[in-house]
Amino acid sequence: MSSKLSDGLDKAGIARAELHVFLCIGPDCCRARAGELLWEFVKKRVKETGVRAMRTKAGCFRICTGGPWLVVYPDGIWYGGVTPARFERILQEHLLRGHPVREWIVAENDLQRRSPAGE
Ligand code: FES
Repeated sequence: MSSKLSDGLDKAGIARAELHVFLCIGPDCCRARAGELLWEFVKKRVKETGVRAMRTKAGCFRICTGGPWLVVYPDGIWYGGVTPARFERILQEHLLRGHPVREWIVAENDLQRRSPAGE
């Protein structure tokens, strides 16, 4: 493995991650500026708290309304209308303590329903 690849994998935090959060920050589901402010806040707070979560800014979840969107895997929890203040609560309660913020969940699917062919 090249050192550049190894450095990239390390920077992504893959080996130590327990969670992976994906964000759609617009521009169709929310104002792009609001999305960018949220993304900056998420990066800052994930780093500050040391929560073992990878974070990925996705292009579009094809919902295109009610954003910004935040999806937490492996839990399969979808939060809509996420603001920095809401993210802080999601961070404290869900990402750090494992208790999803039930009243803000819009959809759930942990993708575990699929069985291998023949079972
Ligand atoms: S732009 Fe966010 S879901 Fe499409």
